[in-house]
Amino acid sequence: MSEAILLVGGKGTRLRPLTTHTPKPLLRVAGVPFLTHQLARAAEAGVTRLVLATSYLAELFRAEYGDGSPLGLELVYAEEAVPLGTGGAIRNAAELLTCGPDEPVFVFNGDILSGVDLAGLRDAHAASGAAVTLHLTRVEDPRAFGLVPTDGQGRVLAFLEKPQTEAEIITDQINAGCYVFTRSVIDTIPAGREVSVERETFPALLASGALVNGVVEDSYWLDLGTPQAFVRGSADLVRGVVSSPALPGPTGEALVLPGAVVDPGARLAGGTVVCEGAVIEAGAVVHASVVLPGARIAARGSVRDSVVGAHAAIGEDSSLRSAVVGDGAVIGPDNELTAGLRIDCGVRLPARAVRVSAAPAALAS
Ligand code: GTP
Repeated sequence: MSEAILLVGGKGTRLRPLTTHTPKPLLRVAGVPFLTHQLARAAEAGVTRLVLATSYLAELFRAEYGDGSPLGLELVYAEEAVPLGTGGAIRNAAELLTCGPDEPVFVFNGDILSGVDLAGLRDAHAASGAAVTLHLTRVEDPRAFGLVPTDGQGRVLAFLEKPQTEAEIITDQINAGCYVFTRSVIDTIPAGREVSVERETFPALLASGALVNGVVEDSYWLDLGTPQAFVRGSADLVRGVVSSPALPGPTGEALVLPGAVVDPGARLAGGTVVCEGAVIEAGAVVHASVVLPGARIAARGSVRDSVVGAHAAIGEDSSLRSAVVGDGAVIGPDNELTAGLRIDCGVRLPARAVRVSAAPAALAS
């Protein structure tokens, strides 16, 4: 028996409006709820019993996964009436663990797509006898992250806040959101109040002299918390840049789910996913995007690096670039929605309401 806790209670504000009706871990990535990829990876690594730490839209998780048996897992649900933060959620979920104080427990953030060797992480934890072992990943630009320097043996030296100056960038290692805790260590997290594992629990463990280890692994890693990362993660799974035991294998340029209708005169590329009930009309081009169930892209629509929400409609000749259209929104013909634009669920945009005019330099040439 091997147990794990998976944190899925966050509000997913950076992915609004996609997370208005659907919690981030249940959004479809490469055709299945993102959480299914993580559950399948946990099961593959030998996890047999997993506590889902829920809060925001908690009831939707049980409705989706039940007791977990189709995934070969025993799933149990912890619920926070008020979100308790990452540390508080781990402490609350631990009430449902059955293992002894010395046993290892995996803890996963519910929005990380990664190829980390989970069994290797657990072995490293057992070999070192650490209180906690963290998966650390290296990033090109560490400025947006808290940094986690380690010594030559992998011992974590500090948990540093986001660097403000170049001099503060003393490592490119960051917390990758996947840990192995020795069970008794979880029981030391204060119960019944909000706790951040990153800002409070880990620094407190270091201050108390506990051994906190980091395993630096450079396998695929992506935090799907932003719309850009969300579409990229989905496309990477479809194209096989990263694999998932929840998928039969890469499908190439596009994944069209049964029940979707794609006109032969439409073009799908870049790892696009078209979910069931969605319709793509003639002349439309959809690149590296996610088209959620029941959405429609009318003739000659152009959609790139974007998410089209469930039952949303994109009008003829409209184009989307790095945009997010919420569930049920209707974009009239001939609109241009570009970088970062988000349209709320249910909004109706008339024809030619938003257009991006060419920059003067481009007009001059
Ligand atoms: P943003 O609001 O966009 O930052 O997303 P988020 O709410 O998911 O927060 P964040 O990305 O920092 O959370 C990391 C992981 O912890 C995600 O899997 C969240 O679901 C989870 N999480 C964050 N806060 C809580 C909480 O209070 N309770 C529980 N159960 N999980 C949480």
